[in-house]
Amino acid sequence: MYSKKRQQELFEISKSFLNSELTVSDYDLLVEALNFHEWKYYVDNNPLLSDKEYDDLYQKLEILEQKYELAVKANSPTQRVSSDLNDQFKSVKHYSPMLSLSNSYALEDLQEFDSQIRKLLLGVEDKINYFVEPKFDGGSIAVVYENDLLVRAATRGNGIEGDDITANAKTISSLPLKAKFSEYGIYRVELRGEAVMSKNNFAKKNQIRQEIGLDLFANPRNAATGGLRMKDPMEAKERGLDVFIFQMAYASDEKGESRIMQFVSHDKAMSVLADLGFKLPYKEMPLAGSIDIAFETCRQWESDRDAFDYEIDGAVVKLNDFELQERAGSTQHHPRWAIAFKFKAKQATSKLLSVEFQIGKTGAITPVAKVEPVQLAGVTVSSISLHNEDFIKQKDIRLGDTVLIERAGDVIPYIVKPLTELRKGEEVEIAFPSDCPFCSVPLEKSEDQAAWRCVNPSCEEQNLQKMIYHVSKEAMNIDGFGKSIVEKFYQLGWLKDIGDIYNLDYDKISVLEGFGEKSANNLKSAIDNAKSNSITRLLNSLSIHHLGKRASKLIARQIEHILDLARWTEESYTEIKDIGPVVAKNVISYFSIQANIEMIKRMESFGVNLSQTEDDKPLKIADDAIFKGKTILFTGALQNLSRKEAQTLAEQQGARNISAVSSNLDILVVGEKAGSKLKKAQLLETITILTEEEFLRLIGKA
Ligand code: IVH
Repeated sequence: MYSKKRQQELFEISKSFLNSELTVSDYDLLVEALNFHEWKYYVDNNPLLSDKEYDDLYQKLEILEQKYELAVKANSPTQRVSSDLNDQFKSVKHYSPMLSLSNSYALEDLQEFDSQIRKLLLGVEDKINYFVEPKFDGGSIAVVYENDLLVRAATRGNGIEGDDITANAKTISSLPLKAKFSEYGIYRVELRGEAVMSKNNFAKKNQIRQEIGLDLFANPRNAATGGLRMKDPMEAKERGLDVFIFQMAYASDEKGESRIMQFVSHDKAMSVLADLGFKLPYKEMPLAGSIDIAFETCRQWESDRDAFDYEIDGAVVKLNDFELQERAGSTQHHPRWAIAFKFKAKQATSKLLSVEFQIGKTGAITPVAKVEPVQLAGVTVSSISLHNEDFIKQKDIRLGDTVLIERAGDVIPYIVKPLTELRKGEEVEIAFPSDCPFCSVPLEKSEDQAAWRCVNPSCEEQNLQKMIYHVSKEAMNIDGFGKSIVEKFYQLGWLKDIGDIYNLDYDKISVLEGFGEKSANNLKSAIDNAKSNSITRLLNSLSIHHLGKRASKLIARQIEHILDLARWTEESYTEIKDIGPVVAKNVISYFSIQANIEMIKRMESFGVNLSQTEDDKPLKIADDAIFKGKTILFTGALQNLSRKEAQTLAEQQGARNISAVSSNLDILVVGEKAGSKLKKAQLLETITILTEEEFLRLIGKA
């Protein structure tokens, strides 16, 4: 369809168009470029531009056509909706054109939309009411029922005709094969909706695909659109897709007379559909009396988007009343009565400039991609972890590649893949170092591990990372001793290893720029406080590979003095329930290195506690402890307790604190402004939800 060279050219032209003012002479190329990007998106399933970039280009085209009153080309994207037609399937004509949506990104855009609507509806403005709907990120589908039976399903195609995918659609269980439209006097109805794959299902399917060595789905959208187009309906069924209906587009009686108006409005039509067995993504109809309220809902959903079971990339604001919709009408491209509010993009492309190798507190070397800064879901991304050597090899990522970047459910951006079709042959394979980039000692890697490690106990950069962790909240919790201070003291040569933290010269610190006597004193008392920490904390803060908080706690219970561990054998560890040979091996190795023992002894000489404390001993939990054996999670702002206090109180009552809402969670305690965790827990239905007061009352502390 497009040669590799042409793809590269069109990509580069598009990028430069995005950054410049266009003139009439750019028109033909712009039309070609947009058609190309539509093909990449709909047919090749491999978009090169973010939605926002596409929209910006599209807008430039609209402006060109209007400003210069150009003779609009027949193949200009403004003249048709994008095409996903595929010659494997028979084409069928839609009963009414299947249009696209215009996009908005800010309140002002929505207000502009609202004022256009008010102009179109002069005299009946008081009837304006909006419906706000999730904008599902999947593949659009048009389904036709005749005589109460599902008789046809089609993709959007070019908006007039689509591919007939009836056999595949019939395998989708959330699409009723039979629905009693006849009770409403309807013979034929055409519904529009989106086929989607739930995030949960997506994760499971990809896990299986990884296990059996199949290519992974890039995202749920591709998995869904691909599923609709399977040649074998059994394979479509196997994807476990869902369909959400978002429009009743056409309804007629036996004589072919339109009966759509009897449903009055979108919300009423949707509740009829719900009664007939269709799946709705919301429990109550999301109606909004004004555009500002509609915007509030859009914003709310944007911040809660991760709590939805399905990927949503925006919200759609629709004029609710069918008569008003008809009056407002449509352009060739989109209805004037609806607009999409697009969330901040989670995908973007950028160029891989270089790879830096960082070292972590346990010596693992992590390659980090430095890319040209790019906006992604509201933040600028310029550094992205490449995890390890295998990740780079599997994805065949090369220096100079244009890479597709995504910020998924969590906040961390990652590289989905390089866009190999944009390669020019100048891209260079990434060389993984064989020696530590900081201390030059050869790196090591065990067979069962993905990471290369520096095992030199005196690697300075590694020790810096250990010190940063050591002082952190998680570890020794030294108040006011942040990363930047550790780095500063390290640069001044005052800190070489953890031991030095307890032997600082406060006179020198007090004359440092930005310090003074008071802050030097504060730092001293915070460090002095930490000296009496439990050995659970101390063990955890040594950054021994695989030895986390929980294992530290289990080990600390068994010893009187931390240096007892210098005599421990593998059995001494593995006798402890939940401690395995891997932790054993790593702790044994740590305590067999003389430099480590000496450092710990130095710490003792500076007053650091090495003996078991009360905090290290197991909590005595009564048999009738109220939360015995339960898992608990606190969310939102608590009014009477700090998070830590609440967690300790819960532990004293036998509960185990966990960090995520899932079916493993028994109790969720909600403070003020609880967000997506509460929503998710409500959906799961098996979780007991308590207010802070109820929690306090239950543990007898109200
Ligand atoms: S209404 C005439 N509602 O977005 C109105 N579309 O960018 C047509 N989409 O092709 C669209 N969720 O596949 C509408 N709640 C929703 C939607 C939705 C997803 C898709 C749809 C359409 C595309 C337009």
